[in-house]
Amino acid sequence: MYDIQSIREQMLAKLEGVSTEREIADLKSTMFGKSGTVTGLMRELKDLPPDQKPRAGKEINDLRVELSAACDVKEKALHRAAIERTLAADEIDLTIDKPVRSVGAEHPLNQIRNKLTDYFVGNGYIVYDSPEIETDYYNFQALNIPPDHPARDMQDTFFLGNGLLLRSQTSCGQVRLMEKVKPPLKMICPGRVFRNDDDSSHSPVFHQMEGLVVDKNVTLCDLKGALDGFAKFIFGEKTRIRFRPSYFPFTEPSVEVDVSCFNCGGDGCRVCKNTGWIEILGAGMVNRKVLENCGIDPDVYHGFAFGVGLDRIAMIQCAIDDIKHLWENDVRFLRQFAKGE
Ligand code: DAH
Repeated sequence: MYDIQSIREQMLAKLEGVSTEREIADLKSTMFGKSGTVTGLMRELKDLPPDQKPRAGKEINDLRVELSAACDVKEKALHRAAIERTLAADEIDLTIDKPVRSVGAEHPLNQIRNKLTDYFVGNGYIVYDSPEIETDYYNFQALNIPPDHPARDMQDTFFLGNGLLLRSQTSCGQVRLMEKVKPPLKMICPGRVFRNDDDSSHSPVFHQMEGLVVDKNVTLCDLKGALDGFAKFIFGEKTRIRFRPSYFPFTEPSVEVDVSCFNCGGDGCRVCKNTGWIEILGAGMVNRKVLENCGIDPDVYHGFAFGVGLDRIAMIQCAIDDIKHLWENDVRFLRQFAKGE
């Protein structure tokens, strides 16, 4: 008969010597695997004389249960030890005094641009990207500003030669889009624009966002509704807007749009220079000539357009008096307006 006792001791001794999870897995397969010792005993049971079978069967089974339980205990202990080793190696010292690396934050100009974009995209406008280097045609002529027009003087333009220039307004985006896409259309065109202007409220590079809606039956009321919603979204629910008559060659009629002062609510304060109102953009109904220039029939379609100066809004909201602060990249300045830093 097999010496179950000595097999038992031999196996338990081996188990004692095991020190890794890998080793125990190997040992288990030498016991219980296909050609394992315990498996072998079970297999040979059938060759024993019938009268020995019950006792031998019980002994072998007891051995199997005992060894398997011992393996489980050892396995768990090794697993726990492995976890503890890893934890000890990965230890994080929460008391250590390391310099904090500050996280970047959105620039005030990007905050304004993204907020405006959110509003208009939420209202079905597409975002259109138009070139910064333009031709005279797109920046002026197509917008109803012919070569000798005095309105050109208001936009001190950087001419590059070869008929090219740095766009002085994002309004060129209107023409470029209308040439490609037939109405109905709703778009905003944010981007950099350039003028030879340099003082505390003007920079040679600044930012605008153009807006354009063209469809059948678009009226000045639609323009007012769109801008009213926009002003409330940016400056708060209580904000009111007002239109003042103005002139732009590419819109007829044209308006200058003011919002009630978000600081004093309209009573008059330093921010609104005691007027209760802050001018924020120019707008109007798209001039028939501009629609015609883009191949759109002005007897069928009407549109409104507006152009917002983003730097101006950022300056008003951040209460800064020099546009250069937006460009100097002084983190002490920028941090004051950082959201989520
Ligand atoms: N392009 C004008 C500017 O830079 C702003 C403007 C006014 C845009 C009226 C418009 C508009 O679309 O309708 O001064």
